[in-house]
Amino acid sequence: MPTWPHPESKSAALFERARRVLPGGISRGQTWIDPFPIYVREASGAEVTDVDGVTRIDFLNNFASLIHGHSHPEVVRAVAEALPRGSVYSMPNAVELDLAELLCERIASVEQVRFCNSGTEAVMLALKAARARTGRPRIAKVEGSYHGMYDYAEISLDASPANWGNRPTPVPFAHGTPSGVLADTVIIPFNDVETAEAMLREAGDSLAAILVDPAPAQVGMMPMSPAFAAMVRKVADDIGAVLVCDEVIALRIGYHGGQARVGLRPDLTTMAKIIGGGYPVGAIGGTREAMAVFSHEHGKPLNPTSGTFTSNPISMTAGLVTMRLLDEAAYDRLEAIGNRARAALGEVMRATGFPGQVTGMASMLHLHAHERTITDHRSAYHQPEEAARLRRIYRGLTDAGCMISPRGACFLSTVNTDAHIERLAAGLRGCIERMD
Ligand SMILES: Cc1ncc(COP(=O)(O)O)c(C=O)c1O
Repeated sequence: MPTWPHPESKSAALFERARRVLPGGISRGQTWIDPFPIYVREASGAEVTDVDGVTRIDFLNNFASLIHGHSHPEVVRAVAEALPRGSVYSMPNAVELDLAELLCERIASVEQVRFCNSGTEAVMLALKAARARTGRPRIAKVEGSYHGMYDYAEISLDASPANWGNRPTPVPFAHGTPSGVLADTVIIPFNDVETAEAMLREAGDSLAAILVDPAPAQVGMMPMSPAFAAMVRKVADDIGAVLVCDEVIALRIGYHGGQARVGLRPDLTTMAKIIGGGYPVGAIGGTREAMAVFSHEHGKPLNPTSGTFTSNPISMTAGLVTMRLLDEAAYDRLEAIGNRARAALGEVMRATGFPGQVTGMASMLHLHAHERTITDHRSAYHQPEEAARLRRIYRGLTDAGCMISPRGACFLSTVNTDAHIERLAAGLRGCIERMD
């Protein structure tokens, strides 16, 4: 039977149908791979089986959102029990309190939580909350860092040598980005304390928020340096801006959040992915003071929010069970398997003389097809021939039954085993050996 990417595979047939009703044949950019997506039939634990019957090990876990792999039995059981009681109501439910309390207990800077439905929404609401609190328009963010699809948050996401300028300058991501959005965004270099501090202080009291990720995926998941973490806190205090920490992915690197690992003390924290246990979710957390803009207790909130599916009991239940299973011992196991994976893949690159490197921390790892020291978006950036080599690795690993992201990212789960890592390393060795 022909399998992906054969033109007579079932994936090919589904893609032909999809092209008629979905722009480009897909519903979300991340599912696109050349020459067409692999359609899934089912997934369980660490394995995903496609419609042609090919089973692969999942090292991507829906772009970091599954921390216990697919369909963890305890999550499935809890969701199945909750479903007959209704999927969403126009009244609050008690499960959202359990999940909010868990997040407040774990993350030192989080005293209160407001739920929403995605990471994009969480970042948007956090930035709007910062504007509401300060009455200021501008947002500072790190060059190359991904924070979802809100206009301000996606500026300079794919800045390249052709447009990034000497000092980081705001580069539109989507066509048609209003010039006002560019004018209201300040782009700073990751972990470059001196340049970033100068730019933030220059922007001074025009800044509502400084938005940072403790270990941005786009810069190879390198941790924020203690000096950078201290600098953004100090500058935010000095200029009166709100410090926002995006933990949409980083929450998977530490029981107390990525912020605890890098020594960051934000005013607001954005969360999503793992806290929904595989179901749609988002949340903003923060100090009582920073969260006050969401409260209606003294009249219309400074930053009103709404959301038809917010805090639905299914996402809340799946998230609660997932986060309870993700105890400190589970974080330790993820750390250990992440270390073993980075070591194994790095060893394959050394042994085969492949000009590349493996970066990342805890359960996150990133393959690169160059050897330059990575500190920020510019040093992580792949020249076209390097990007082509990385795509060949991606393709070779897919053929070897290992799912990673087309850009070389892996997000491990608690159901990944040493045997999976050995298979990934063997797959990498095979595809490097086949390269000319
Ligand atoms: C750091 C970060 N922030 C925000 C988002 C947006 O989250 P969502 O895809 O749930 O909108 C993502 C998604 O990958 C992310 O990685």
